[in-house]
Amino acid sequence: MKRAALLIVNCLLFAGAAHAETVATPIPIGIALAQTSNVALLGEEEVVGAKIAEKYFNAQGGVNGTQVKLVFQDTGGDEAGAINAFSNLINRDKVVGIVGPTLSQQAFSADPVANRLKVPVIGPSNTAKGIPQIGEYVGRVSAPVAIVAPYAVKEALAENPRIKTVAVLYAQNDAFNTSESKTFQETVVQRGLKIATVQKFMTTDTDFTTQVTAVLAANVDLAIISGLSADGGNLVKQLRQLGYKGAIIGGNGLNTANIFPVCGKYCEGILIAQAYSPGGDPKNAINNALIKEYRATYKKDPPQFTAQTFAAVQVMVEALKKVEAVTKSKIGKLDLGKAREELNKAIRTGSYLTPLGKINLNQGGEIHQETFYVARIKMDANGKTGKYIYVK
Ligand code: ALA
Repeated sequence: MKRAALLIVNCLLFAGAAHAETVATPIPIGIALAQTSNVALLGEEEVVGAKIAEKYFNAQGGVNGTQVKLVFQDTGGDEAGAINAFSNLINRDKVVGIVGPTLSQQAFSADPVANRLKVPVIGPSNTAKGIPQIGEYVGRVSAPVAIVAPYAVKEALAENPRIKTVAVLYAQNDAFNTSESKTFQETVVQRGLKIATVQKFMTTDTDFTTQVTAVLAANVDLAIISGLSADGGNLVKQLRQLGYKGAIIGGNGLNTANIFPVCGKYCEGILIAQAYSPGGDPKNAINNALIKEYRATYKKDPPQFTAQTFAAVQVMVEALKKVEAVTKSKIGKLDLGKAREELNKAIRTGSYLTPLGKINLNQGGEIHQETFYVARIKMDANGKTGKYIYVK
């Protein structure tokens, strides 16, 4: 019996050794974003940023001469889709790390999968409180709501000091919107404003009559909306259609031109805080490269979600270079597990000059970013197209 057991152990060890994997070349980096569902209103801007980054960094020589290959997996808009995408990327596609998912709500379910398997994750757009705390393999390049959201309130008050009463509306079934709304509520209270009503809705809602009626009854000067693009856009539209005349601040879920077809001419005037500005620093060469490439196809400036996802891929690529420097070995010679572990450490060292400006991730995976902005939506006369005008 003893001999047989030993034989089995030996066989298993041998099998394990035979299957020890090195990193494939070109180096596979997983991109798990919402390419379908309503969340694709955000996700499709992210996919564009990832693709521009792949082309840009490969043209620069990739990782010290080895090309990278982005492996795209659609997460859809829910948690199950994100878990599935992460599992496929990790187990089947053997990626070194993952950029994704689109929503914080998805990250709280999918990131623990990567964390358990020791695969580094960089969130390109997860802004809820608590994302880096999911685990030691989780980081983000998307500054959290607590940092970004207050800028919009500050701007609204600077423009209109007569604002005294506020309605706060948020999607209660979504982690990021709940988190963002809490920040908005704390901010307005700190600024001495009165919250006259708090209205909740679901990201799947299309009829907001109840919430709008409450806002109108409260007779507020400012409405602050934390929703995703489709629900948030519809809520803005119905507020205006039913006669709301006050100011509107939108949260990060409304920060896309993809809401223009949803709220149409009623999108006019929404104020939204930004973690990116195309015109932020005219001397930022990598931002200028992103703008040039984006304009060539889309004839306009890149949005925040595109820039953040570009930055997430950039951090992966630059950190992979550091892994080669530390291990003194070409990435293709490294054991996959070892490469993932070293990559996770490398992500958290030094700083990165990205289209978002200079950023770094601390040991806990949280981003430090220096500059934020606020933009206002300006719709064209046709009521269908429009743009973000930077006001700060
Ligand atoms: N910023 C949004 C989130 O974290 C997209 O879910």
